[in-house]
Amino acid sequence: MFAGWNLPISLYINVVILVHLLLGVSVFSSELKVRVRLVDGQVAEETLEADSEQDIITLEFKQRDGTLITFVADFKKEVKIFRTLILGELERGQRQYQVLCFVTRLNHNELISSESMARLRQKNPRAIRSAEERRGMEQLSMGMAVNLSRAGQLSPHLRNVCREAGAAIYTQQADAQHWLDHGVEGATFQPLPQSWEGPGLEDCPSSPGLWQPCVCRYSLRLEWYPCLLRYCHTHAARASPYKCGIRSCSKGFHFRFYVPYRHLCLWDEEDT
Ligand SMILES: *[C@@H]1O[C@H](CO)[C@@H](O)[C@H](O)[C@H]1NC(C)=O
Repeated sequence: MFAGWNLPISLYINVVILVHLLLGVSVFSSELKVRVRLVDGQVAEETLEADSEQDIITLEFKQRDGTLITFVADFKKEVKIFRTLILGELERGQRQYQVLCFVTRLNHNELISSESMARLRQKNPRAIRSAEERRGMEQLSMGMAVNLSRAGQLSPHLRNVCREAGAAIYTQQADAQHWLDHGVEGATFQPLPQSWEGPGLEDCPSSPGLWQPCVCRYSLRLEWYPCLLRYCHTHAARASPYKCGIRSCSKGFHFRFYVPYRHLCLWDEEDT
């Protein structure tokens, strides 16, 4: 049913974005600025940086409300880091900004390698892009806090990226268990109270007071990232397929995590 679409779309992508193989030239790092359409129709400029020596990809963009989203994929340590810097409303007694960090395991094939990313060039930087494949929302329950002083064990980039998050560095219990099984020290993680562990811990929007602990929610969406390489075939018989472009994806993440005060979760009331 989609067969009729394959050719025109892949041709279009191949013209717009090319994977240059730059034979004989080593490419260690690169930066790409891509204009992407956000869910509310606004256009944001996304910065994609690849460093193939450190084997990381960094993606960063600012939402219309001023929130800065930074995503780091550390392929060496198989860790991905989400950092969000949320601007506070000073007139409501909030801090100037609040930083949250979420750390989870990076799965294989979630996005293209840092080496391929470093070779990516775009032909038409003014074009406004939407991802070809829109993936759903992944739900993550962040039941563990990560101690910033020990976070270097998970990824050497974590301390730098999450420095300003302080105590607000979260991971899932299953991820923490995986890292513990692979030699990370137990003191790196601290279990957090969970809403099902008894009365008193409610979702923040229904929490009675600003100074009560509660379970906070935060959602974000990576609107555009290269998730797969595309291979093309030459007409020559028995020639092997070659890399000729990328497939772009968009994916949402919904985090739930403990906060010691509802005051630290004030965005989680407007959408209820
Ligand atoms: C985090 O680790 C440091 C260094 O080991 C330790 O001094 C500190 O007390 C820990 N913080 C928490 C909140 O456990």
